[in-house]
Amino acid sequence: MEIVKTIRELREWRGNLRGDLGLVPTMGFLHEGHLSLVRHALAQNPHAAVSIFVNPTQFAPDEDLDSYPRDLQRDVDLLKAKGCHLLFAPPPSEVYPEGFQTRVEVAELSKPLEGVRRPTHFQGVATVVMKLFGIFQPTRAYFGQKDAQQLALIRRMARDLNLPIQIVGCPIIREPDGLAMSSRNAYLTPAQRAAAPVLHRALLAARTLWLQGEKSAESLRRTMRQTIETEPLVRLDYATVADPETLAELGTAPQGALLALAAFLDKTRLIDNMVL
Ligand code: PAF
Repeated sequence: MEIVKTIRELREWRGNLRGDLGLVPTMGFLHEGHLSLVRHALAQNPHAAVSIFVNPTQFAPDEDLDSYPRDLQRDVDLLKAKGCHLLFAPPPSEVYPEGFQTRVEVAELSKPLEGVRRPTHFQGVATVVMKLFGIFQPTRAYFGQKDAQQLALIRRMARDLNLPIQIVGCPIIREPDGLAMSSRNAYLTPAQRAAAPVLHRALLAARTLWLQGEKSAESLRRTMRQTIETEPLVRLDYATVADPETLAELGTAPQGALLALAAFLDKTRLIDNMVL
């Protein structure tokens, strides 16, 4: 596996490639969720590349940029074992050099759900993903369904800007007890870790109700809320039933509707979702 830190080296590598390229953008501290994206990229393209960049512009000043978990050597070993062809791990000055001032904003999809508590987050995400697309010029790019809003927003950006890149959404990977894999799970104390699967149970409870014929979105939201309330260590931020493409809140839940929630365990905020 090639490891490059500069855009110049990356372009040189890209220039010599023949055939499709699959890109997996990440912020590192890789887990099975990321590795499943790499597997998809390798299965669908003769070349697969991963970027590891903890993107400062998607963190608000009071968020966890400095403490975000990092372990580049471990990530390198995992990617080599998977057969990834290239890792791009630039320093911040390579991505945001002196004078950088362009921002990409997906106006409406940035506002609801995560955008309420993190109003600048998706501008940072869209800007860095657009940059990575420009740098790599991939054929396909792979994102986890766990960040459903991010995936919807990147799909919209690719459509709006006519990017010749196929955006591939990949299923959520869960721990055996149902907790969706996330680098932020590393922040959880043992007691919080034991409580965290309630997010998944809340989604399952709403889905069970829906399968039994309950189509009222308010009933499904109430069920998610009540299930979360059974865990004293978990404080619900939002529980929603939304259109998976526009993220608009729904009154009734058709097949394909997105159940999504976010909850705090002390300062750690976790998200999860399920498509009906
Ligand atoms: O999902 C992530 O890890 C990040 O938001 C992404 C897409 C790599 C952009 O920094």
